[in-house]
Amino acid sequence: MRMVDLIAKKRDGKELTKEEISFIVEGYTSGDIPDYQMSAFTMAVFFQGMTANEQAELTMSMVQSGDTIDLSAIEGVKVDKHSTGGVGDTTTLILAPLVAAVGVPVAKMSGRGLGHTGGTIDKLEAVKGFHVEIDKKEFIELVNKNKVAVVGQSGNLTPADKKIYALRDVTATVNSLPLIAASIMSKKIAAGADAIVLDVKTGAGAFMKNLEDAKALAQSMVNIGNNVGRQTMAVISDMSQPLGFAIGNALEVEEAIDTLKGKGPKDLEELCLVLGSYMVYLADKALSLEEARRMLQEVIENGKALESFKTFLAAQGGDPSVVDDVAKLPQAAHKIEVNAEKDGYVSEIVADEMGTAAMWLGAGRATKDSEIDLAVGLMLRKKVGDEVKKGESLVTIYSNKEDVQEVKEHILKNISISSKKVEAPSLIYDTVQ
Ligand code: URA
Ligand code: CA
Repeated sequence: MRMVDLIAKKRDGKELTKEEISFIVEGYTSGDIPDYQMSAFTMAVFFQGMTANEQAELTMSMVQSGDTIDLSAIEGVKVDKHSTGGVGDTTTLILAPLVAAVGVPVAKMSGRGLGHTGGTIDKLEAVKGFHVEIDKKEFIELVNKNKVAVVGQSGNLTPADKKIYALRDVTATVNSLPLIAASIMSKKIAAGADAIVLDVKTGAGAFMKNLEDAKALAQSMVNIGNNVGRQTMAVISDMSQPLGFAIGNALEVEEAIDTLKGKGPKDLEELCLVLGSYMVYLADKALSLEEARRMLQEVIENGKALESFKTFLAAQGGDPSVVDDVAKLPQAAHKIEVNAEKDGYVSEIVADEMGTAAMWLGAGRATKDSEIDLAVGLMLRKKVGDEVKKGESLVTIYSNKEDVQEVKEHILKNISISSKKVEAPSLIYDTVQ
């Protein structure tokens, strides 16, 4: 086989076989295929696309390029959830203890964040003592005992994806739907998921800025999952404005605690109930989505979801008393209000720009090696559709530096107020299964 012939085949819009796709993935990972040929290939894919079979083969070739995590020692169906980006997306912090409380095993491998706000591990580290440095044996024991544990990324998972992604980044081929779909799915499968629930975001804060692209990406990923024997469902949710109110690590932990108590922001609670219902259903713990939702509502009402969060934190060295006293979370030195400059209705809160503002405060990493400030971030006081009076707070800035003029201006520039009444956007646009 010669790479040049495979590039030509894809350029001409023909379908590659399983053997041809593994030849490309293995050859590129080992260094036998040079960057210039792989660049030409990814560009050919960008223009010609890939069939469902090609996408499934690409995904599995990338899975096989490195280690895979074996979760077979954990009882039950291991369901993983993945969100495609987003700003202030606190759902993982809530879903992990929530579905664990109804008996779904959550064996989560998570990372740290880059840009916007922190990743799940950064957020959890806002709880004093919490750590993810546990070995594989302890991880499995904890999931069997408490139904939930989170471990840091370890091992050499999907090296092919890492190398191809880095190449796509500098060859203008990141935004190719089949390449994104295979990239995301390969990582979930390598991490041991039996079933996968996807939350595909659409809107300004998301990868997929419009609904049509988001639907196509969701459909591609669902097809890949089902083609390789992992039941997969997807929800397409709004990311035109941030989810919930909190953006920032400790602030999002507090928001997660509120939500587990049934007192969280309505949009965040609803999305967690929808995604959680899919997880419970795919884990075979309920016969219908309706039953799954009732089970989740019950553990929020009777306190078991909150109890599950405490057990989870304590099992990994965290101080569970933060759940009853959130003042024990890292606190910012300054709280500064950003006030509306006129009366009206909030018509837009540009999600990714709010993420950028939080990052400037130190809530997220500008580069891989930056230090992150767990205490800082933003609390939205208004959401799209809310009425606001001149001088009323739109956002509270939580900062450890006094001068936040630039952040304030950025926030004001990215929140629009209209004189006409505005409807709140839909939260969930569609589901794909
Ligand atoms: N996220 C991923 O993990 N891979 C992509 O290709 C795009 C977004
Ligand atoms: Ca949030």
